[in-house]
Amino acid sequence: MSESRWPAPAKINLFLHILGRDESGYHRLQTLFQLLDWGDEIRIEPTDESDLVLLRPTPGVPTDQDLGLRAARLLQDETGVRLGAKISVTKRIPLGAGLGGGSSDAATVLHALNCLWDAGLSVTDLAALGRRLGADVPVFVHGASAWAEGRGELLTPMSVGESWYVLGFPGTHVSTAAVFNAPDLPRNSPAIDPSDYAWERCRNDCQAWVLDHHPGLEDWLAGLAEFGAPRMSGTGSCFYLRARDSDVAHEITQALKSRYNVRAVRGVDTSPLLETCAEAR
Ligand code: C5P
Repeated sequence: MSESRWPAPAKINLFLHILGRDESGYHRLQTLFQLLDWGDEIRIEPTDESDLVLLRPTPGVPTDQDLGLRAARLLQDETGVRLGAKISVTKRIPLGAGLGGGSSDAATVLHALNCLWDAGLSVTDLAALGRRLGADVPVFVHGASAWAEGRGELLTPMSVGESWYVLGFPGTHVSTAAVFNAPDLPRNSPAIDPSDYAWERCRNDCQAWVLDHHPGLEDWLAGLAEFGAPRMSGTGSCFYLRARDSDVAHEITQALKSRYNVRAVRGVDTSPLLETCAEAR
């Protein structure tokens, strides 16, 4: 059987407010997920044998913890499909960056294998499976920029419109669990109505904690701050600047790139994954 290529886009959180915790200790959030048209690429070759093979394991991720491979196993187990796959991820989204790389890889594998195995699950079914793999997986399965509540899985699609950003990668790995387990993380933001959302009035409640606990990040941010107000994505460590348009995003990137690992990226309302899925049907 032949190999096909599937995009796994990154996301940024345009804001992230922590409202409190639920009974199981998970955080109740409000966030706006902005999908990007940049990310990982996954090549998948379905096979007649039921083996699931990860051809190029991501350095630093034990194979049994790889979210793409776990997504494939979960789909196989839940649907009883007897086919297998060879999976190869071209990793561009750094780990521990707050850009949802692992979650997006999982969502892409779920969609791709559902299609290639002809497993017949709906998007709602795939999102429910995705939720078992991580709180950020459902937004990538649904493939639309979205307002999110609960643990981040109660989604309402929200158009952000044409938008450009400069992503800055400090090269610091931040553990999501370490941030959320911190006793001194603020957890008391009031709920806001989506209609009251304005970027300037919102913030990332994890940002101050991550800056306090990762010495060097504050200095690293100074250069980005010359061009606007950098905000952290998710639990970090990636920061982004909003840019008026593509030209401005590329100009800022050009000005910073000798000193910083930066990239101009376009925000999209609809994931490129959905287009690939539509073409594959
Ligand atoms: O869902 P995910 O596996 O990405 O989350 C990693 C860890 O972050 C969880 O084990 C949990 O400790 C914490 N978390 C949380 N509240 C959320 C999302 C994640 O406490 N809404």
